[in-house]
Amino acid sequence: MGKAWFTYGPDLLEGKFLVFRGYMKVNGHHYRTIWPVPDSYERIEIIDQRQLPHRFVTETLSTTGDAYTAIKDMHVRGAGLIGATAAFGMYLATQTAREKHCHYDLLQAAELLKNARPTAHNLAWAVDRVLSEVISCSELEEIRKRAFEIACLIADEDARFCRQIGEHGSELIKQVWLKKEKQQVNILTHCNAGWLAFVDYGSATAPIYAARDAGIDTHVWVDETRPWNQGAKLTTWELEQEGIANTLITDNAGGHIMQRGEVDLVIVGTDRTTHTGDVANKIGTYLKALAARDNNIPFYVALPSSTFDWKLDRGIDIPIEQRPGKEITSIDGLSENDTIETVRLTSAGTKAVNYSFDVTPARLVTALITERGVIKAEKSAIHAMFPDCCVST
Ligand code: MRU
Repeated sequence: MGKAWFTYGPDLLEGKFLVFRGYMKVNGHHYRTIWPVPDSYERIEIIDQRQLPHRFVTETLSTTGDAYTAIKDMHVRGAGLIGATAAFGMYLATQTAREKHCHYDLLQAAELLKNARPTAHNLAWAVDRVLSEVISCSELEEIRKRAFEIACLIADEDARFCRQIGEHGSELIKQVWLKKEKQQVNILTHCNAGWLAFVDYGSATAPIYAARDAGIDTHVWVDETRPWNQGAKLTTWELEQEGIANTLITDNAGGHIMQRGEVDLVIVGTDRTTHTGDVANKIGTYLKALAARDNNIPFYVALPSSTFDWKLDRGIDIPIEQRPGKEITSIDGLSENDTIETVRLTSAGTKAVNYSFDVTPARLVTALITERGVIKAEKSAIHAMFPDCCVST
């Protein structure tokens, strides 16, 4: 890894340069999933993921309300990107905060952003990190500069951590590849824990990209991931852009292909992981973990440390988002008229309950792939790897 791209600078911060460099490619050009608009850094640019894979459209966020809507309505999604968008949302709040009431206004913005979606831990983590860094500043101009700097740091850190996850995780893929006498390694993934779910590289996909760069031949089974279809819409597109072999499967096919010996390992992401190793991820992940265990297939979860919830002991206590039933009773896609249209799948009166996430207990997780290394999904191992982060023992 280590390609050349575009560079921004100089920034608002006393002549220092901030380098925003994208690794992942769209139509051959390097992109991150979020970046400040370079003219004045007063606005933030995102990729509107609702339009993918049919159209590559970027959107400008000018206010905290824009950031809130982008998170809530899934213009952006995925743990790391939700966190980075929330951090920039706090920066946008500093632009409208009133001189005499700026602390109050920022607390209001923090409350709004934190309520956008409940499950991803990175959201509250990022908002609190920006707040704690600016709350001691009294001058609004200083608050603005600091908030911008911290939001940029969070984005840069997310990208760096994912790159490091790639380095550690690719070693696991390499071991399988060597054991298979350098035959193609088949990896199953669920949802999109790719570049599009983070600022760059992705968590579950980073090891695959790093393995590719190391000359290892991989093939990815992509779960379609009903009802929002992040796998079908986003993961396949992202892997295609990077030239990684992949095949889309229905959500229910995973167990079958595992039984047939067509999966060497599973790598998924996570929206929140307790400090005891229980993993909340997109609905359906738990069933994949059960099938993997029954078939003796390693089940890895890739995450930056920002996704650990250091206060929750039990996965069962993770708040699980319920989204509108309409996401299940209808489906969208590209029409023959080249427009993105939504059609109803069910009768008009069908009731649906849409749990967005489930919890995979630590005992079903072979290991966690973090920016610091690969560890068991156990409290003692997690705390030993992150002694500076854990708050409880
Ligand atoms: O509802 P989403 O798309 O925001 O859900 C998040 C996800 O994409 C998945 O759960 C993913 O596997 C983990 S996020 C890194």
